Amino acid sequence: MSPQELAKQIFKEKFNRTSTLNVYAPGRVNIIGEHTDYNDGFVMPCAINYGTAISGAKRDDSIFKVYASDLKQFDEFSLAEEITVNPKEKWTGYVRGVVKFIQESCPDFKQGADLVISGNVPLSAGLSSSASLEVAIGKFCQQLANLPISNTEIALVGQKAENQFVGCQCGNMDQLISALGQKDHLLMIDCRSLDTIPTPVPHNIAVMIVNSHVKHDLVAGEYNERRQQCEIAAKFFGVKALRDVSIETFKQRENELIALDEKVAKRARHVITENQRVLEAVEALKQGDITRLGKLMGESHDSMRDDFEITVPQIDYLVELAQLVIGNKGGARMTGGGFGGCIVALAPLDKVEAVRQIISENYEKQTGLKEDFYVCTASQGVVVC
Ligand code: GLA
Repeated sequence: MSPQELAKQIFKEKFNRTSTLNVYAPGRVNIIGEHTDYNDGFVMPCAINYGTAISGAKRDDSIFKVYASDLKQFDEFSLAEEITVNPKEKWTGYVRGVVKFIQESCPDFKQGADLVISGNVPLSAGLSSSASLEVAIGKFCQQLANLPISNTEIALVGQKAENQFVGCQCGNMDQLISALGQKDHLLMIDCRSLDTIPTPVPHNIAVMIVNSHVKHDLVAGEYNERRQQCEIAAKFFGVKALRDVSIETFKQRENELIALDEKVAKRARHVITENQRVLEAVEALKQGDITRLGKLMGESHDSMRDDFEITVPQIDYLVELAQLVIGNKGGARMTGGGFGGCIVALAPLDKVEAVRQIISENYEKQTGLKEDFYVCTASQGVVVC
């Protein structure tokens, strides 16, 4: 059953009435442009056909009574009082945080509701289950009280909730693509101006995702550390963010930075070259040049492995296997925050079975972990359903 159907059905069971408001927001996979979003740079994700559904209905008070059906847990809080963190249950932070920060821009928002959440984005896999929850909650609130906030604003509220309520200093990519995704398109996002350039997924090309099942949950520390290193590098170059450093400028001062802090220099090299790769990927897609796109994906992976140091051996192995089959007909790389999670591969449809096969024959044997393999569709962002 789809999460949309499940949410509706479980709402009936838990609250003994029919839901009157149903929303759905997707997870995402990033094709290229990793750890560039919080450097004001460029990313190119697509929303996927896995997401989070919410079904609910108004109450006649200011209480939010929320049932997370996958976790079988309730949370309850009042919109008429200050919304605080519930440190025992992390998932509640995504809900409470979004409602709290929506109230910052819409202080009159006090309308209570009963709601049920149901999702099918694999958890801790780097496919943005949390962003899809945040965006779904934001959309639910917008619709519930007819609030004058756009989908882009909902995304930014979601990011704020994650930064200030959950404590991960993530950028804005995941929430933006969950809010703005376009069916059958990859979306290049300029994470500074928030301009977007949609490009169709090339004809006959499959977007594959392979979950390594190396959990990436406990690495918020590593993530925040990378972010700090990027900030140090930006300071070194005297700019607001690494987005403002060209490859030429970087090369001119690279040795100076290495002498100061070698790790910081490597982090900067990744971000600066990755931004360039995203821009080139847009060109490659425009020209239908899947070989060039694949090459850029490969370089992105190497850069994440060697310079940003966020891959793990199991992920490197999955990428190698996929690349072996795909050759120059597409590409493969790690996707998402890093330290486990998933790889993404783009290849002609007639290569899908061979990619699936080489991985299923080798990955578990080599690593002791069994992968999950998905062929996904680039999907629409958040919707009322
Ligand atoms: C996580 C964060 C995003 C982004 C990616 C890396 O998914 O939530 O903001 O930084 O990692 O590209």
